[in-house]
Amino acid sequence: MTLPHWALELPAYPPLGGDTEADVVVVGAGIAGLTAAYLLARAGQRVVVLERDEVGSGETLRTSAQLTASLDFRYVELAGIHGEDRAPLIAQSHMAATDEIERIVGEEGIECDFQRVPGYLFAPPDGREDLVRELGATQAAGLEALMVEAPPGTHGLGPCIRLERQAAFHPGKYLRGLAQAAQRLGVQIYAHSPVEAYDHQEAVTRAGVRVRAAHVVLATNVPVADRVKFSFRLEPVRTYMVALEHQGTLDLAHFWDTLDPYHYVRPDGDLLLVGGEDHVVGRADDAEERYACLEAWAREHFEVGARREAWSGQVENTPDGIAYLGRTAGVYVVTGDVGNGLTHGTIGAMLIRDLITGRENPWTELYDPTRLPRGNRLEWLREGVSAASHLGEWLTPGEDEDPADLRPGEGAVIRRGLKKLAVYRDEVGELHVRSAMCTHVGCVVHWNSGEKSWDCPCHGSRFSPHGEVLHGPARVPLATEELPEA
Ligand SMILES: Cc1cc2nc3c(=O)[nH]c(=O)nc-3n(C[C@H](O)[C@H](O)[C@H](O)COP(=O)(O)OP(=O)(O)OC[C@H]3O[C@@H](n4cnc5c(N)ncnc54)[C@H](O)[C@@H]3O)c2cc1C
Ligand code: FES
Repeated sequence: MTLPHWALELPAYPPLGGDTEADVVVVGAGIAGLTAAYLLARAGQRVVVLERDEVGSGETLRTSAQLTASLDFRYVELAGIHGEDRAPLIAQSHMAATDEIERIVGEEGIECDFQRVPGYLFAPPDGREDLVRELGATQAAGLEALMVEAPPGTHGLGPCIRLERQAAFHPGKYLRGLAQAAQRLGVQIYAHSPVEAYDHQEAVTRAGVRVRAAHVVLATNVPVADRVKFSFRLEPVRTYMVALEHQGTLDLAHFWDTLDPYHYVRPDGDLLLVGGEDHVVGRADDAEERYACLEAWAREHFEVGARREAWSGQVENTPDGIAYLGRTAGVYVVTGDVGNGLTHGTIGAMLIRDLITGRENPWTELYDPTRLPRGNRLEWLREGVSAASHLGEWLTPGEDEDPADLRPGEGAVIRRGLKKLAVYRDEVGELHVRSAMCTHVGCVVHWNSGEKSWDCPCHGSRFSPHGEVLHGPARVPLATEELPEA
């Protein structure tokens, strides 16, 4: 796995050693889980956090760390899907999440380079009319925005919408400070404690240790075990980033375009972070080409030098462009980040704190996780059918037939009779053989050479080369297999 410079070494937390109880058990220690734990503890709740790997080992440290109300879906689209009365609530909730982060940073003295910056949304050269409409919808949603010429330091990026009061921070430093602040309030954090089962009153780790609690919060990016059936309402997407040496004089700001696939850009010290080139998880294995495309696009529009870093991560799209946050099937969930998971995660934490402590919250109905997708349901159905079509891969040949062809560090799916095997040759030449059957609902995993992982094209579960779960909804490792003779 390639980790970005945000991935600081965070404090090590012990695994949970024995059964315990709490008011709230939070599963997952990314921004959503730790913010929920912190806010609930501030509201007087006794909180236990269970993390599968290490604090911050999920998507939170793979981000471009833009805190913004400029979402993947444009405000014209959001008003069309959710109604003109809900669009201002969407904008307001993301602005409030950024304000909440700023408040926590201030009150807890977290040194994480938080700063307010503007954001610029560019349209392609023939997109001025669309941009004018988007400006109207953005202002109608209550955001402070105006049309300007492209700022100095950019080339060939036409007029754009400038959004005020967005923000940037260092997600690693923020997460570290948030975990420490939560602990000061009595939150117990346990790492290496993967939750394999839960109901509305307890969470049980792989080692069989139980936390009984009045409330269970799933902040695992996608709900594990998926009793609440989110996989069928989420589209898992792999997104790519390069960090290039920045040689220009660009204002500290965020930049996005409206191309499809789109780009997102953020100056960070002497680096320019450039992201995009998204695809559905498990349906492409060409990371280096995608990094090269991002680099070429950046060279056209900004003054950049050599590439210093490249990494990818996963976001979960929803059909109506906003997250699922709140209570469903007796538990609380934060999922469907749509690429804005730092703010969606914080909104989810605020909302869940209010639901648990019986406070009114203006966003409850908007983000209701039990809602049917608003807007274009056809698109949603199409994605469901497309995921299901991957089950047919059991009938097709493997990617490679001879494990002897695998070089150190490579993996491939190999057919043996009726079985498909996920075969990986490690750096010292030893073969590791697992079933290629995803432990969620049985699609065939694909090798991701960029991240060295097994990725499932159906609902985005990911596994390490040795079959351990890296990303849900799967919660159980790939089964161990023997390699029979060809
Ligand atoms: C390249 C990239 C750029 C992005 N840019 C932005 C951006 O600019 N702005 C923005 O707002 N968002 C952005 N995002 C999205 C954002 O980073 C994520 O949506 C957000 O960090 C998710 O936070 P989370 O807490 O929900 O999940 P995570 O950070 O993934 O945390 C979930 C945690 O749950 C743990 N877990 C999983 N299963 C279990 C289990 N069974 N038991 C116990 N623990 C478990 C995981 O190990 C993990 O630590 C970006 C994402 C990527 C990949
Ligand atoms: S993630 Fe659903 S089958 Fe793999």
